[in-house]
Amino acid sequence: MSLSVVILAAGKGTRMKSDTPKVLHEISGKSMLFHAIDAAKQISNDITIVLYHQAQRIQKEIEAHYDDIHFHIQDVEQYPGTGGAMKGVDIKHTKALILNGDMPLVTMSALKSLMDGNADINMSVIKLDNPSGYGRVVILDNKVHEIVEEKDCIPAQKEIQTVNAGVYCVKKELLDSYIPALNNHNAQAEYYLTDIIKMAVDDHKIVHPVIVDEEAFKGVNSKLDLAHAEEIMQRRIKTEWMKAGVTMRLPETIYIDSRATFEGECILENGVSIQGASHIIDSHIKTHSVVESSYIQNSDIGPMGRVRPDSKLVDTHIGNFVEVKKSTLTGVKAGHLAYIGDATIEEGTNIGAGVITCNYDGKNKFQTKIGKNVFVGSDTQLVAPVTIPDDVMIAAGTTVTKDVNSGELVLSRTPQKSIKNFFYKFFGKA
Ligand code: UD1
Ligand code: MG
Repeated sequence: MSLSVVILAAGKGTRMKSDTPKVLHEISGKSMLFHAIDAAKQISNDITIVLYHQAQRIQKEIEAHYDDIHFHIQDVEQYPGTGGAMKGVDIKHTKALILNGDMPLVTMSALKSLMDGNADINMSVIKLDNPSGYGRVVILDNKVHEIVEEKDCIPAQKEIQTVNAGVYCVKKELLDSYIPALNNHNAQAEYYLTDIIKMAVDDHKIVHPVIVDEEAFKGVNSKLDLAHAEEIMQRRIKTEWMKAGVTMRLPETIYIDSRATFEGECILENGVSIQGASHIIDSHIKTHSVVESSYIQNSDIGPMGRVRPDSKLVDTHIGNFVEVKKSTLTGVKAGHLAYIGDATIEEGTNIGAGVITCNYDGKNKFQTKIGKNVFVGSDTQLVAPVTIPDDVMIAAGTTVTKDVNSGELVLSRTPQKSIKNFFYKFFGKA
């Protein structure tokens, strides 16, 4: 780990057209910057993030998830640009890998390809049919000569298809001498980090171009790029889980959060959405069901079931249009149309169609506890807080407002009335 990582994230991200900082936009449930940090953490113990726009908000978000990241606030007023971003950054090790915070698809192995060898600078290059927007890499006699930003290109340079992917591995001694010497004599009046390439070449240093995978180094600058990066990330996530043994029907219709995990034999049908850090073991999630940040073991859900955060389902069957929230169900059957919120339900209990835990009184949430082998009839309302012990029958249409005892039948129905021949009189039939 004798290498430092610097992640540049001070840019404004204007093209995202959003009040949310660009690098906090999410890909597969995790912000772009966190994807980059997670890749960086696998190769370094000295990570610095350069911030400026909405620095406090981004720093707070990072500190809530990571505890060993350094921050550097760029002096954008005086030193704008990627070179300005590196001014004053403290680098602990003898080399630094510099990458952009808006590269969520970068992987540890992609970064590693830039760390090998003895060059003074390893720089990432890609060959593109349409190089527009990127800095062009001028190569003379098979040697990197300089990087020219698009806005500074003469027409012939614009034709160059070898471009700078924007990630570099640079010896610290070079940064120490070149960064303070940068100037802003260019079309954008910015301090370009890319100018260190020409400085190194002029000093007869070794600058090695590393051809990298375009996909891993894609920068996200707009909502369109964000959607495209999401597609790539989803394809990667699902490929890995299928390799690990998860069965997916029509995988292109399935969404899986980057934090979700699976174990054993799991089946995901089409249209399923697995969100948050859900953990799913030996379970079958049927068409168009949604699972959010929950633990599911040996259970089946859906079609069209919804499990909301902090639920734990073990040996349980959840059918269509059943919503479960913050509840623990063990050995339960809830086949159709129910809302189960803030509840604990034990083995052998059956929840009928239309059952609702009334967990909210407009101010506070309350718990419903249901024991083993309880039969909850259709269209029952359980007004929380309420406890139903083992071995109870609740008749269809009952509103339960008080605790009951084991062995009881509970019912709160209005007695049924019949009025003879009413139909015939009303419609005037004989
Ligand atoms: C940069 C490169 C270009 C390369 C491209 C690859 C320079 C001068 N140009 O251009 O050669 O082809 O990336 O994507 O480096 N940032 C700061 N402070 C700033 C400006 C930017 O921290 O003052 C950060 C941004 O947040 C971003 C990264 O640096 O994460 C790159 O900045 P951006 O403006 O996107 O650079 P490009 O013009 O795309
Ligand atoms: Mg960019």
